Amino acid sequence: SMVSETIRWQTPLAHMSRVAKTDFELGGKTIKAGERVVMWYLSGNRDEDEIDNPNAYIIDRDQSRHHMSFGFGVHRCVGNRVAELQLTIIWEEILKRFPEIRVSGEPVRNFSNFVHGFETLPVIIPARN
Ligand code: HEM
Repeated sequence: SMVSETIRWQTPLAHMSRVAKTDFELGGKTIKAGERVVMWYLSGNRDEDEIDNPNAYIIDRDQSRHHMSFGFGVHRCVGNRVAELQLTIIWEEILKRFPEIRVSGEPVRNFSNFVHGFETLPVIIPARN
């Protein structure tokens, strides 16, 4: 569940958008045909009506796959299981070799309103005897 919780909490892609095909009312607002609608996965992933204590990073969270980071519906990320598998294997292998990793400074985030990521994150990996 650590991998899914990280994908939820971090939300690697902040949003996607769609163009409305017909007029539609949502949450009391009318969206007109042809208008662009942005789906903020970042916001959905912090929705306290759906996720308990959404701002907390809880690695053994129940229902950790209940998040919006892969989108929803027919275009939901086709690679979501591959992404989860890659990250699970990477962390299993990293932790076998480097069981202790300490964050030693502030992250530098990338400049983008789409890809929600990091340029750098300094860490200390203590030598093993
Ligand atoms: C943590 C890693 C990943 C994240 C957060 C992610 C996120 C997303 C999101 C948000 C969408 C758009 C969903 C929508 O428009 O409704 C998407 C679509 C897609 N993703 Fe991923 N993705 C990841 C990894 C991957 C991987 C590893 C692959 C391929 C092996 C992949 C292939 C695709 C494809 C082909 C689509 C388009 C699906 C469609 O439009 O029907 N993704 N992904």
